[in-house]
Amino acid sequence: MRVIVCENYDEVSKEAAKIVASEVILKPNAVLGLATGSTPVGMYKLLAEMNKNGEIDFKDVKSFNLDEYYPMSADNDQSYRYFMNENLFNHINIDINNTHVLNGLAKDPEKECADFDKMIDEAGGIDLQVLGIGQNGHIAFNEPDSFLYANTHITDLTESTINANARFFEKIEDVPTQALTMGIASILKAKRIIILATGSSKKEVINDLINGEISTNNPASMLKVHKDVILICDKEAYDK
Ligand code: PGA
Repeated sequence: MRVIVCENYDEVSKEAAKIVASEVILKPNAVLGLATGSTPVGMYKLLAEMNKNGEIDFKDVKSFNLDEYYPMSADNDQSYRYFMNENLFNHINIDINNTHVLNGLAKDPEKECADFDKMIDEAGGIDLQVLGIGQNGHIAFNEPDSFLYANTHITDLTESTINANARFFEKIEDVPTQALTMGIASILKAKRIIILATGSSKKEVINDLINGEISTNNPASMLKVHKDVILICDKEAYDK
């Protein structure tokens, strides 16, 4: 795993945006795997600026998002579809039909998940996957457990994740307790992965990711088996 340590959040956003932009410049019909959360917001802002300035073109780009709450309607302002529209898709020239976010109201969630993996395969696989990391080591909603799921699936959220995400909701009872999420194999099939982490709340988990062994107790540690992963973090999250 290559590690890029940046001075602060803005620099992390810049480094990450440069990598995503390079991917899109080199492969105009790139398939991007995208993440929600507060960490990639700065990167999305920069990508929107670059698109506006004519530096990058998203016309032929396809995207697949890591996860969505369940149940959750796409037009709810806490949905990840809403987040992606607000933070990126509404500001760039991507064809909205080429953007894929799991349907949080799917009647048959298992089928929704299986279809999602199939769609990724049919698109030729993900060229570049953007990831955040939870304080508990989750990537997407693959939570620490005694085993992890390979494929896209429905899952229960852990207490730690519900607490961490409560800041976006009026009250903690409003945080959904389940989600649809790409599995570990769905993520590891990406050709290249960048993982972003900022702030001291990520220090412990990043230390474990860099120095620890592979364990299902830290799902992000699975990334150690992938040959093209770049961790981009700020000094606060990086603890030698
Ligand atoms: P954050 O979330 O970017 O809001 O810290 C990351 C995650 O939970 O994957």
